[in-house]
Amino acid sequence: MAVNGSTNGTAAPAYNGNAYPITDHTFDVVIVGAGGAGLRATVGCSQAGLRTACISKVFPTRSHTVAAQGGVAASLANMGPDNWKWHMYDTVKGSDWLGDQDSIEYMVRNAPAAVYELEHWGVPFSRTEDGRIYQRPFGGMTTDFGKGPPAQRTCAAADRTGHAILHTLYGQALRNHTEFFIEYFAIDLIMEDGVCRGVVCLKLDDGTIHRFRSQLVILATGGYGRAYFSATSAHTCTGDGNAMVLRAGLPLQDMEFVQFHPTGIYGAGCLITEGARGEGGYLTNSAGERFMERYAPSVKDLAPRDMVSRAMTMEIREGRGVGKNKDHIFLHLDHLDPKILHERLPGISESARIFAGVDVTKEPIPVLPTVHYNMGGIPTNYHGEVVIKKGDDPDVVVPGLMALGEAACVSVHGANRLGSNSLIDLVVFGRAAGLRAAEIVTAGAKQPELPADSADLALSRLDHFRFAKGSLPTAELRLQMQRVMQNNCAVYRTGETLQEGSKLIHEVWAAKDQIGVTDRGLIWNSDLVETLEFDNLIVQAVVTMDGAVNRTESRGAHAREDYTERDDKNWMKHTLASIDATAHTVSLDYRPVHSYTMTNEMQYIEPKARVY
Ligand code: FUM
Repeated sequence: MAVNGSTNGTAAPAYNGNAYPITDHTFDVVIVGAGGAGLRATVGCSQAGLRTACISKVFPTRSHTVAAQGGVAASLANMGPDNWKWHMYDTVKGSDWLGDQDSIEYMVRNAPAAVYELEHWGVPFSRTEDGRIYQRPFGGMTTDFGKGPPAQRTCAAADRTGHAILHTLYGQALRNHTEFFIEYFAIDLIMEDGVCRGVVCLKLDDGTIHRFRSQLVILATGGYGRAYFSATSAHTCTGDGNAMVLRAGLPLQDMEFVQFHPTGIYGAGCLITEGARGEGGYLTNSAGERFMERYAPSVKDLAPRDMVSRAMTMEIREGRGVGKNKDHIFLHLDHLDPKILHERLPGISESARIFAGVDVTKEPIPVLPTVHYNMGGIPTNYHGEVVIKKGDDPDVVVPGLMALGEAACVSVHGANRLGSNSLIDLVVFGRAAGLRAAEIVTAGAKQPELPADSADLALSRLDHFRFAKGSLPTAELRLQMQRVMQNNCAVYRTGETLQEGSKLIHEVWAAKDQIGVTDRGLIWNSDLVETLEFDNLIVQAVVTMDGAVNRTESRGAHAREDYTERDDKNWMKHTLASIDATAHTVSLDYRPVHSYTMTNEMQYIEPKARVY
């Protein structure tokens, strides 16, 4: 095992007169991010005999996958009839027909094998009486193409499934001799003539610069929940890979689709798993009414997240919120057997006690829809390869670059992700990337020298912020950004709030030039690193807002009060948003949703009204 592994190159000269000696490394594959997707790809590439580096800004088992609670979706049929076609139907419907059906077919077909692989690698799944993997109901997961009762499809390790998966994958990566570069912060991609050739990183404990050259870079850097004020995401969720892609002149896809999880703890934002409702929990308003019966009569509290979040928001708006300010909702678990709570929901029972002061066996948990997941990200095909639109061909591969997990937009989640489809996305496409890498990367192949200016983009940016002497602290700008996103691009949107939001968020973007960095220290958590993260967040915030302004329909998580209907004629298409970082402008383009499946075993699922 090599942790903070080997150096393959020689020190390069200082940059721009400033003291930036560069340490060079050469690998076959470099993976940025050590969450579920990054580690699963890491294992696959290492197993394929490719010399693989995994770079992470936090210790791998602190990556945000560790916080995933409720489970991973796969049609194992352990608890009743199920099959991948029903899972596909639910995912397409859940996506509000913005998902690419070839990618969705790939994910759901490969889901059972990916889960059994995790089981064999050591994930301690909860068990049924007869020893099989325990599966619980989750929102939007049904049987018989939506006509049957809810499916029990979500494979769970109590309510700590992400923790179990992440630790298992890290163990497998070490076992397969992956070289880890831990607490290295990736600053920018190295692109040459449209080909990705590597990545430049800052080593956080000593401030040294490391240039990684590789045949393939895989971005698995997660989402950007921290662009918002209240999110279930860790503070590290700043979408660094997405921002690197934007700065490289490539677009991001469908960024206007931001998922609010219905049950963040009121005031704290911590996640209370949807598995709580899967185990029988339910929501009530100030009248004690189980209001979901009105909004989704067949599946009630197990409706998809966009619908539950909208229903909760409507209840609060119409004066039926709970608490002193009538500004939240109750989640009841107090009717459930304490033994079940102890066995299946121990983590959220503890979170409720610590963050809400609630004993879940006796009282309801105060909850509120909270930013949780980004459906948008770096556009890829189902092998994980980054694709761009060129002329009439919407899917041209960018050589040397892949993206996975929440950083990517495959697009299997379309306009709204179903709960527990995220963990399966990570492992299925992490595995797919390893398989593809084995086909397109030659182990140990000699790589051309990097261009002399290959680190310029990264180092000029670093230099700019390290010596920024403006009057605005990063923390102040970050707070402004988070408030604008929270107020103007939330569960419900209107043209007016979005237009105002666009103006305000562009102002924050422009004010970035007045930033002052006080602590130019070289260590993690310094003002400098937080400034680099803010710089990443703000570009994602502007493309999110501007994509939302332009999309004049309601679809999935994008609910417009001035355009209340889904408009398939004009809007069944993916948004592609790019930036001009110098002019501070955003440009929007569109590409068609794939209207085909992967095989003839499943026909294209025609759009229809999305009712539950
Ligand atoms: O509610 C949850 O346990 C979250 C799961 C997910 O986002 O997939």
